[in-house]
Amino acid sequence: MDFVTLNNGIKMPLIGFGTYQMPSRITERCVEEALSVGYRHIDTAQCYGNEREVGRAIKNSGFNREKIFVTTKIWGGRGYRDTLTSIESSLRALDIGYIDLLLIHEPTGNFNEIYRAMETKYREGSLRAIGVANFLETNFFRLMQTAQIVPAVNQIETHVFRQQNNMNRLMKRFSTVHESWSPLACGKNGIFSNATLKKIAASHDKTIAQVALRFLYQQDIPIIPKSTHIERMKENFSITDFELSAEELAEINRLDTGKSLFSWW
Ligand SMILES: NC(=O)c1ccc[n+]([C@@H]2O[C@H](COP(=O)([O-])OP(=O)(O)OC[C@H]3O[C@@H](n4cnc5c(N)ncnc54)[C@H](OP(=O)(O)O)[C@@H]3O)[C@@H](O)[C@H]2O)c1
Repeated sequence: MDFVTLNNGIKMPLIGFGTYQMPSRITERCVEEALSVGYRHIDTAQCYGNEREVGRAIKNSGFNREKIFVTTKIWGGRGYRDTLTSIESSLRALDIGYIDLLLIHEPTGNFNEIYRAMETKYREGSLRAIGVANFLETNFFRLMQTAQIVPAVNQIETHVFRQQNNMNRLMKRFSTVHESWSPLACGKNGIFSNATLKKIAASHDKTIAQVALRFLYQQDIPIIPKSTHIERMKENFSITDFELSAEELAEINRLDTGKSLFSWW
């Protein structure tokens, strides 16, 4: 298992499992399968409506709690007090004692105050690390004007078509880990039939999904691919036994459009 070390010394597995758009009725089964495949890092969020099922799968798995890294995200916080309550509700829903990484889901509301509440809970010990998601340059700088704890992670849209090289450099300057969401571009833009990725995949006897994920993994960018199919969970997890060459990386670099496929952030 490969890890990235966060700026407070906590280790986060580089390959995680996403649960966005995973209906709560199947989440427990999917997370149990992901854990059986070998994933030890699960990404959920308040607004996915499946924190309870993620927690249940972890408790049922029989693994020691400290072997599994769990991220969740605060949704729709307004300020300091309601965020304290909101964090408590996530802790209750997950019911696994503590949260490894809590992120502000998006830069809305009074995020300086939302983050201050997260700092309080971090100091109290119920959060092992805190960070943000979807904070591009301007909002990241606004947050840094008041943050006392440098965000451990910034989870942003990152895949072969939007590589976020500028944000990657900026995050390195702040010792904030740049994490990818939608590492498979959520299947958009014809990723699974892209000719460049297809050619590279064939030369390694791998799939397009594996090449797209390996491209990020090889840059130490944590990835959290989501799948409801165990065969794909296995496929997405099996990316540590091959290496993309400098030429292949350069070819994939040329797929970058610099544009969002989602138009959220
Ligand atoms: N912070 C944020 O604002 C934010 C935003 C979006 C996502 N996220 C996080 O990032 C995670 C990943 O992003 P995502 O779920 O949007 O998209 P993704 O992981 O890039 O792609 C998931 C899609 O690809 C399919 N898929 C997965 N593996 C495949 C494979 N090997 N071959 C072919 N198809 C495959 C899945 O279908 P099946 O399920 O049918 O296999 C699903 O439709 C989310 O689940 C969530 O945890 C965070």
